[in-house]
Amino acid sequence: MTRLYEDDAELYDIAFDWDISAEADWLVERLQATTVLEPGCGGGRMLEALAERGCQVVGIDTSPQMVELSRRRLGTRGEVFEADMRHFDLGRTFDGAVCPINTLLHLSPAELARHLYRMSQHLERWARYLVQVGLVESDQEPFAGSHWEASRGETSLKVDWVDEELDVVRGVSRQRSRIEVLSGPRAGEVVEEVHDMTAWTPATWSEAIEASPFELVATYDGGTKGQWPRVDARATGGLLWHELTL
Ligand SMILES: C[S@@+](CC[C@H](N)C(=O)[O-])C[C@H]1O[C@@H](n2cnc3c(N)ncnc32)[C@H](O)[C@@H]1O
Repeated sequence: MTRLYEDDAELYDIAFDWDISAEADWLVERLQATTVLEPGCGGGRMLEALAERGCQVVGIDTSPQMVELSRRRLGTRGEVFEADMRHFDLGRTFDGAVCPINTLLHLSPAELARHLYRMSQHLERWARYLVQVGLVESDQEPFAGSHWEASRGETSLKVDWVDEELDVVRGVSRQRSRIEVLSGPRAGEVVEEVHDMTAWTPATWSEAIEASPFELVATYDGGTKGQWPRVDARATGGLLWHELTL
């Protein structure tokens, strides 16, 4: 697990706390769910947005710091548990689930299979599981990367997130994040980390879903501002949403 998800979870939470209200509206419409589970919920930004839209939300995360941030953010508006998405058992089912921002790329193919099986045990038969997983072309070069600034209170950050290596044949990618604290109590600190992720092509991703208890209903492009047009299952891109059902 990375520092950004544990000791520096607060910096991660500030860096990724952009406005997700339109995306949350779209997700709620697609899910048509009262109870929603988010595996890998981080600091709870999506749980909060879904709770504000009337969903009863539950999140799980392996990081105690993320669980604490989520609980603080949600208060009584939802529940958050420390649990591993590869082998958890909450003893109940939900009528929808979401997993944004490429969290599932942290799992190897075998771990994804275990996760999808666990999710199938936590969802009603007609429930939708919306997962945001970027897919790459089989001959793709590493993405140029993303660069942005974020702030909360006195703290402001400069964030650089780049794909350093991409090996589509082995199905792995290596990303490097660099967060520079520009102002606030930690001004001057730089947190730099390497993240080893799985790289999926449309073909390998479809195979993984077909081998799971889920089927792929539709794919949407989350990279077009304020709109989530349906795209072909062979589409590639960094912000694709996949709608799965049992
Ligand atoms: C990319 S962050 C996304 C956080 C949140 N979903 C969001 O949209 O802001 C990934 C999160 O997944 C959590 N995570 C990684 N591996 C996990 C696992 N095996 N089980 C549960 N949580 C995990 C990390 O601790 C981190 O909080």
